Amino acid sequence: MRELLAARAVDTPGTERPRRLRSTAPLRALVRETRLDPNQMVAPLFVVSGRGRRDEISSLKGHARLSPELAVAEAHRLAGLGVGGVLLFGIPAAKDPEGRAAADRQGPVAETLRMLKTEKLPLVLIADVCLCEYTTHGHCGVLDGERVDNDATLPLLAEAAIAYAEAGADIVGPSAMMDGQVAALRSGLDAAGHDGTAIIAYASKHASTFYGPFREAAGSTPSFGDRRSYQMDSANRREALREMELDAREGADILMVKPAITSLDLLAHARDRFDLTLAAYQVSGEAAMIEAASDRGWIDRRGAILETLTAITGAGAGIVITYFAADAAAWLRETR
Ligand code: PBG
Repeated sequence: MRELLAARAVDTPGTERPRRLRSTAPLRALVRETRLDPNQMVAPLFVVSGRGRRDEISSLKGHARLSPELAVAEAHRLAGLGVGGVLLFGIPAAKDPEGRAAADRQGPVAETLRMLKTEKLPLVLIADVCLCEYTTHGHCGVLDGERVDNDATLPLLAEAAIAYAEAGADIVGPSAMMDGQVAALRSGLDAAGHDGTAIIAYASKHASTFYGPFREAAGSTPSFGDRRSYQMDSANRREALREMELDAREGADILMVKPAITSLDLLAHARDRFDLTLAAYQVSGEAAMIEAASDRGWIDRRGAILETLTAITGAGAGIVITYFAADAAAWLRETR
């Protein structure tokens, strides 16, 4: 094939002219391989209890911790823009070593879900399931000494998932990186009569520097150590695929990778290997880099956002969780 191309280039110069299809905007639009759609985007929302609370998150521009009724107002805006879904994270009023508030039916996530459910917005309601926002030590599971105890954490995660399903979540997203968490959630949900609640598995979640701004938003920085004994080493691409395989077998409906931009190769491999819907989470640090550089006038914000979302989608993600969901949706509507 290479020889053939070379021969043609020599024999008939100008036969291969990919620029032909780049010459006008309508032509470029016609042949575009990857298209973005607002309804593939999921917007993370941070919720707190109370009323009238909007605490801006300095490291996540344009995002705030919202009390439930303000989160509902934001959901209306997102639905109006055509965004596909919201992913809820809760910040509890009080934390304890077991992160019990994660399953609190009066907590901000459950309350917001119940309110959103009655609004009947065309938005998929997703609840993140983890203990790190709820534990005093900031780790994603319960401790045995300084070790995060995998199997003692599983029932607590399942309890939280059941509470969110009961409150109206369409999908729950276990993000604690405990072994067996997808199976634990699936059997817990089924036993509680929530067999229709789907699971988006944070299947390949790397121990990443890029979660920094999120931890500020959620107050979930570990008080000692780090998360490397449960989150994955980003150097291990085969292990990442194995994590996805395990989650698929445990009953995941959607497989997610995160961070997004450092996992594009994983998306491409996973796209070939699995028939499940794939998702990617463009995490807080990825967003912060774009905001910081565009604030300094070093890159064009809109261009950088659309380019990264296109790369993530092109690599194989059907769903993109992104702090830019509202912006991207608004721009995509403009250019219709
Ligand atoms: C909870 C969780 C985290 C993120 C999503 N779920 C933080 C962490 O693992 O430390 C990060 C999301 C982001 O950075 O935007 N375990």
